[in-house]
Amino acid sequence: MVMRLDKLLANYGIGTRKEVKSLIRKGFVKVNGMIIKKDDFKVDHEIDEIVFDDELIEYRPYVYIMLNKPAGYISATKDNLHPTVLELIEGYENYDLFPVGRLDIDTEGLLLITNDGDFSHKLMAPSRNHSKLYWAEIEGVMDEKDIDSFKKGIVLDTGYCCKSANLKVIEVDDNCCKVEIEIFEGKFHQVKKMVEVCGKEVIYLKRLSIRNLELDRSLALGDFRELSNEELVDLMEDL
Ligand code: URA
Repeated sequence: MVMRLDKLLANYGIGTRKEVKSLIRKGFVKVNGMIIKKDDFKVDHEIDEIVFDDELIEYRPYVYIMLNKPAGYISATKDNLHPTVLELIEGYENYDLFPVGRLDIDTEGLLLITNDGDFSHKLMAPSRNHSKLYWAEIEGVMDEKDIDSFKKGIVLDTGYCCKSANLKVIEVDDNCCKVEIEIFEGKFHQVKKMVEVCGKEVIYLKRLSIRNLELDRSLALGDFRELSNEELVDLMEDL
């Protein structure tokens, strides 16, 4: 990918765009062995050898991050009222990151953050039918009839018929239960609305996995890490 030298170095984390421009002008940067003092000089990270202050720059255009989203954060790049999930991803400020799909403000768990639009689209497009698995705590007890309705396709109050989904009751306690719900699309408030159609209410929701990618249980709420190569290869297979 061909891009400006100052953008590449800023994305890499050398400094802000302004700081990087100044470092380039001072002669800290070599491209293919030549000192380059023009900040708009065009480079291709796959072809050109870029060295900053004697350090070889191994630039990656795309990053793929797994976040254990806490409640209280909005799945957007900007918001006037609430903090966004991007505010939790420190150290990647220059990567133009965005969340892959959305979790509601009060939903926790697996949220992917990337700057790869094609990847995001392929993972989230409803036509692709990728699985998303949720853990939910419910007021009311979900029963065999609800399992059957989920399988057949819940009809929402808008008339929309949801794709067949899997409901598994894990624990029942008085008038509450804990369930796992697997859906293959991602409409607004989908899990909450499906449960509501059954006359019950989601009181806690957490996403456990997307496709074959599971939330890393060692990540505390609000923590994140990059996907390993193996996770990424598996997730991208036949995407
Ligand atoms: N379904 C919901 O209702 N909320 C979410 O955040 C995700 C799926």
